[in-house]
Amino acid sequence: MTTVIETRGLTKRYRGGQLAVDRLDLAVPAGTVFGFLGPNGSGKTTTIRMLLGLIEPTAGSATLLGQRMPRAARAVLPEVGALIEGPALYGYLSGRDNLVRYDSADPTADPRTRRARVATALDRVGLTAAGSKKAKAYSLGMKQRLGLAAALLRPRRLLVLDEPTNGLDPQGMREIRTLVRELAADGTTVFLSSHLLDEIEQVCTHAAVMAQGRLITQGPVAELAAGTRGRLAVVTPDPADAARVLKELGLTGVVVAEDKVSADPPPPDADPADLNAALVRAGVRVRAFGVERASLEDAFVALTGEGFDVAG
Ligand SMILES: Nc1ncnc2c1ncn2[C@@H]1O[C@H](COP(=O)(O)OP(=O)(O)OP(=O)(O)O)[C@@H](O)[C@H]1O
Ligand SMILES: [Mg+2]
Repeated sequence: MTTVIETRGLTKRYRGGQLAVDRLDLAVPAGTVFGFLGPNGSGKTTTIRMLLGLIEPTAGSATLLGQRMPRAARAVLPEVGALIEGPALYGYLSGRDNLVRYDSADPTADPRTRRARVATALDRVGLTAAGSKKAKAYSLGMKQRLGLAAALLRPRRLLVLDEPTNGLDPQGMREIRTLVRELAADGTTVFLSSHLLDEIEQVCTHAAVMAQGRLITQGPVAELAAGTRGRLAVVTPDPADAARVLKELGLTGVVVAEDKVSADPPPPDADPADLNAALVRAGVRVRAFGVERASLEDAFVALTGEGFDVAG
């Protein structure tokens, strides 16, 4: 399997002294939808800027489509569609004319087919109706869509999207997820950053998890969560009693939702069968009992010992 993004010891220390990315070894296999996950401030945008040759690493190296960045930027970047924080737009031009400008800046783009390319890109991101509106009158979500349209003007081998659903409403987020799946089905590798765990779980085949500039883990999404125990869940007509018994058994994070009582993953030395037996002994009628499939969030908490919050 070939890798489309690879970094070795990639490090960025900003001038103020902030170590934003710390010896990152990332490997993104071709053909994946790869989620770059981490809380706010964990170094995602900094990494993406280095990948695209927009800032110099302090140490380490990055290759994009097998070529060393930033040296190969001219050769590689035409094959890479990118959406980074706050796409540069001309506010006084319409969304459509902004795309025309982007397309004109590409020396390999045939001017005769420009209008059609722009129309297709607008359509893909759901901006056809708003295409004539001035970009300065666009909402955050509309600007985000326009930035994405610019990345889609030509076929790409790789798309690098920094928080593509930022500013979008739930419907817009769904549309972007669908679009990402379509692009992946066409053979484009999609690398997208997000601080939203469930977004990564919904759309990505692979993920890397960052915390405070460091890579915590990377691999297929299914495997990342597989090593972690999920939450305990009990379905019962006696939820209050079940919650009390689980707390007495030392379980934490007990939550009651109608007839379902759940708790933080039991410690590895606790046999779920014993927990179930204790519930029954206490007179709790148990309809269903089990350890749920671990989510990426469970895995993150297990790996970092922390909640998925902003680091200082
Ligand atoms: N230009 C800069 N100069 C100094 N420090 C910076 C700069 N840009 C980012 N940082 C710091 O580097 C760290 C990583 O920031 P970065 O923007 O890469 O995080 P992020 O994971 O993209 O966060 P978010 O989810 O909020 O977009 C933060 O502590 C941030 O304050
Ligand atoms: Mg960012």
